[in-house]
Amino acid sequence: MSKIHVTTTVNGEPAEFLCQPGNSLLDALRDDLNLTGSKEGCSSGDCGACSVIVDGRLVCSCLMLAVEAEGKSITTIEGIANGDVLHPLQRKFLEHAALQCGFCTPGFLVAAKALLDHNPDPTETEARYWLAGNLCRCTGYDKIIRAVLDAAAEMRAGAPAGE
Ligand code: FES
Ligand code: FES
Repeated sequence: MSKIHVTTTVNGEPAEFLCQPGNSLLDALRDDLNLTGSKEGCSSGDCGACSVIVDGRLVCSCLMLAVEAEGKSITTIEGIANGDVLHPLQRKFLEHAALQCGFCTPGFLVAAKALLDHNPDPTETEARYWLAGNLCRCTGYDKIIRAVLDAAAEMRAGAPAGE
């Protein structure tokens, strides 16, 4: 079967790849673009480990076809930091010890960024509902929610230069 050429934007940079019609965006990111931060947990839209932002919307990349990335703008976990400067969410996850094995962490960070992009001042309930599609098997959710709310507060107060 002939492959399809897809031209897209990933983390602000032009990107292109060849894919089969049935390949997922997660496959393309990991296998073709070598962006392995997005994780494959369930491949069925249940765990959120593969979360990316597509044209401003939070998406499970395991459920989106790679060909649908044509002309879209995609943000992955690799695009969250500003060069060597961690995003406040990343820093707060570290400060709050909001991860253990880390497998779910990229998905949580991307989903949390999408939340704060839409709502810079979420309540705890809003944050918990927003992140309900992201599963963590080892950390527990309290530390993750604390980290997200703390990052949100810091960002509202005005992040240090470069962040
Ligand atoms: S791998 Fe996509 S939601 Fe689990
Ligand atoms: S830190 Fe291990 S699954 Fe979340």
